[in-house]
Amino acid sequence: MNNKSITILKIGGSVITDKSTDEGSARMEDIMRISGEIAGADSRLVIVHGAGSFGHPQAKRYGLTAKFDPLGSIVTHVSVKELNRMVTDALNSAGVKAVGVHPMNCIVCDNGRIKEMFLDHIRIMLDNGFVPVLHGDVVMDASLGTCVLSGDRIVPYLAAALGAERIGIGSAENGVLDDSGNTIKSINPSNFKEVRHFIGGSAKTDVTGGMLGKVLELLELSETSGITSYIFNAGNEGNIAGFLKGKNIGTAISKAEDKG
Ligand SMILES: Nc1ncnc2c1ncn2[C@@H]1O[C@H](COP(=O)(O)OP(=O)(O)OP(=O)(O)O)[C@@H](O)[C@H]1O
Ligand SMILES: [Mg+2]
Repeated sequence: MNNKSITILKIGGSVITDKSTDEGSARMEDIMRISGEIAGADSRLVIVHGAGSFGHPQAKRYGLTAKFDPLGSIVTHVSVKELNRMVTDALNSAGVKAVGVHPMNCIVCDNGRIKEMFLDHIRIMLDNGFVPVLHGDVVMDASLGTCVLSGDRIVPYLAAALGAERIGIGSAENGVLDDSGNTIKSINPSNFKEVRHFIGGSAKTDVTGGMLGKVLELLELSETSGITSYIFNAGNEGNIAGFLKGKNIGTAISKAEDKG
């Protein structure tokens, strides 16, 4: 039995893919660098990566957030699995015992929210030194047929279900920025109204809410579970390694003000 604390790390699709293209375009150099940074981790680790240009343009093309489209669902699912394969291969090459876990095969949603998730395999993986690697995906939905499930929504669900102690969301910006481009150090229920107008969707193709989607999910998690999360720049070398070693970087999303 492994009693080390659990960390959940999201690697943004904006970091590991080129989100300015309409077809899957991976940033292999970043995937390899990040894999090397993850190899030093000492905690039990769950990775969730975003879909980037392997999922958002496809979901948009088939209108998946507005209507049920079986062909579009399959095309998008196959495409994000391709990215997952690249990420898990790079992690294994770096010495991480990474196993791809496709949300389509273990999550059922209802109206876009996670209704049920099979977790036994993930718990056993963590107990035995494996690193499950999930991703934004298309999953079956009890009301809609299928839905697009963001990695940003999987992270808080897993954090609460597994009792994670550390949550990091690596994206392509230095955290949540204000209108001068400075990192907002702390977002919590008491200052959210003040900073809300700085936070928008994505500048690129993103069907799941961009930065605002992340902040809303993580604020809800902090309120329901008291867990603090950090949104930081995973495009900068060393940030993921630093976060995994316990350094708090970027924007803290918490229940009360984080004095960092
Ligand atoms: N206040 C803000 N601070 C930082 N980024 C912001 C802000 N408001 C909007 N954004 C946008 O949100 C984007 C990050 O969200 P996005 O969903 O594109 O990235 P990601 O989650 O890494 O990608 P993926 O969804 O593929 O995993 C930024 O690149 C930026 O365009
Ligand atoms: Mg996104």
